[in-house]
Amino acid sequence: MCGIIGIISNTPVAERLITGLERLEYRGYDSAGIATVVNNEIERRRAPGKLQTLKNLLAEQPLPGMVGIGHTRWATHGAPNAENAHPHANEHVAVVHNGIIENYAEIKNELQTKGYTFSSETDTEVIVHLLTDYLLKGLTPLEAVTQTLSHLHGAFALAIVFAKHPNLMIATRCGSPLVLGVGEYDIMLGSDALALASWAQKLCYLEEGDVVSISKNNNGDFDYQIIDSEGRSVERPLRQSKITAEAASKGEYSHYMLKEIFEQPRAIGETLQSAVDFESKHIDCANFDINWQSLTRLTIIACGTSYYAGMVAKYWFEKYAKLHVDVDIASEFRYREPIFCEGGLTLFLSQSGETIDTLAALNMAKEQKQQTLAIVNVTDSSIARLSDNVLYTAAGPEIGVASTKAFTTQLTLLACLAIVAASKRGKITEEDHQRLTEELIMLPGKISKVLQQDQTFHKCALTISGARDALYLGRGTNYPIALEGALKLKEVSYIHAEGYPAGELKHGPIALIDSAVPVVVLAPHDAWFSKTLSNLQEVMARGGQVICFTDSKGEVELKKQISSSFHLQIIVLPTVPSFVAPILYSIPVQLLAYYVALQKGTDVDQPRNLAKSVTVE
Ligand code: M6R
Repeated sequence: MCGIIGIISNTPVAERLITGLERLEYRGYDSAGIATVVNNEIERRRAPGKLQTLKNLLAEQPLPGMVGIGHTRWATHGAPNAENAHPHANEHVAVVHNGIIENYAEIKNELQTKGYTFSSETDTEVIVHLLTDYLLKGLTPLEAVTQTLSHLHGAFALAIVFAKHPNLMIATRCGSPLVLGVGEYDIMLGSDALALASWAQKLCYLEEGDVVSISKNNNGDFDYQIIDSEGRSVERPLRQSKITAEAASKGEYSHYMLKEIFEQPRAIGETLQSAVDFESKHIDCANFDINWQSLTRLTIIACGTSYYAGMVAKYWFEKYAKLHVDVDIASEFRYREPIFCEGGLTLFLSQSGETIDTLAALNMAKEQKQQTLAIVNVTDSSIARLSDNVLYTAAGPEIGVASTKAFTTQLTLLACLAIVAASKRGKITEEDHQRLTEELIMLPGKISKVLQQDQTFHKCALTISGARDALYLGRGTNYPIALEGALKLKEVSYIHAEGYPAGELKHGPIALIDSAVPVVVLAPHDAWFSKTLSNLQEVMARGGQVICFTDSKGEVELKKQISSSFHLQIIVLPTVPSFVAPILYSIPVQLLAYYVALQKGTDVDQPRNLAKSVTVE
């Protein structure tokens, strides 16, 4: 939700601010803006809509300046127009802000009483005037920031430049991510490391409550100082950046979503490498102090797609590790009064590691003295830091707003974890452990085969792209994949879609079936196949148009049992053991959603109203 960047350099920064914002656009794309300090004055350019509009504006009205900040917005307070676009500024300061100032209304009232006038509907503008109030009282910029922060409630990250201090930038992290980057020629800040790729050789992930002051002296040398939440000057580790600029590019693909779908064999392979000894076919990814044997309950908490990954994991942990598992949506969990059991393990799933509801649920679990473990994709993200233990998926940066490779790598690590838990609890033999591990090792190759069928999904997208509604059905571990398939379609094509356990069809949703509602059925030839086949017959008998993803055995059965007069498209996928089937069956639902969106001409990578990292409630 909003991306921020700031650069202090010895050369003009506008172009790099824009490149950084391009890499952050996944966080929000309602409007964008940049501000620089030029001759002791704040200069800014802002534009509604996508970054391209701002680029067009800058082509007409270039912005000089070697110290600047930038912002790409996901609107919370106020419409996505130019007035509400960041940076917010007056003649003294300019501010970019990611997050929410919860008590902005009362601060605004007080400031208005003092005579300050507001030109936007945002919560952010109060920061501009509060800072100004303190600066005009004679406080230094750092003192003014510290005083201002003492008024603010909420979760936010800020970057601020000052007209009368042209070589200074102050930033802070209070609940929203912020990373400091040190490069050969510049010093910079960003909402994530990707924004700073190729310019920052070293990265420093700020801690909660840190205020960082970055500056340039008269010789053009850079310096920075970090003050922690207690007001002490502190050192934070500087790490070598491993992120390349290529990671932020689409390469040969027309969309990030397609690129990321095609990256899955590699991403899953690398995730497995982090967890599996390929020689012995043994998984040892969770060498934490978790007593799997005595564990009575595992609670999995997540949002959206990550929640569906948790739902699949429940089947695995129950089947193989004989473990009681609850799966909960973070935004519900945090406001219920959940019963925590003593010695319980709570597992948090989050691609970004920043989702506010998941983070709040993690805080709750910690307060209740639960042991916590997180599976995240982003190094040093808030959830990764707060959790007792963390496992990282190796998806690499995921920029398309619709999650694809982050989901299948989450599933991969969850599968590994289920095998570890099953072994440690003595519920599977070493032979089973190796067999299941082998099934995972074979998976990237099978996924590559599905990707080679790419154009099949392009064709079958035609069945869906004209529809208003669609249904996705699956059983067992493919039921959460049906939910995920429906979510993918909604997100990128704006077609209303529902996922259902196939067995639930006759308990209500069958009323929706007619020839205008395509039904996507996920039916590998597994223990549930004959049941799903009956449900498919029920759909066809009511004129439904079915796209069925199955394997070669399933195809034979379907052809035997379904009359050729019905509208049935069978897409044959590689045969895989049922353990790994939900990971493989994720690929066709992703490709189908992608191609439907392509046919509809929607903005695949930046669907309307969405943002990738949900850091506000
Ligand atoms: O970063 P997280 O995994 O915590 O994000 C949770 C959801 O917002 C996310 O999974 C969302 O549903 C997907 N981007 C949808 O494709």
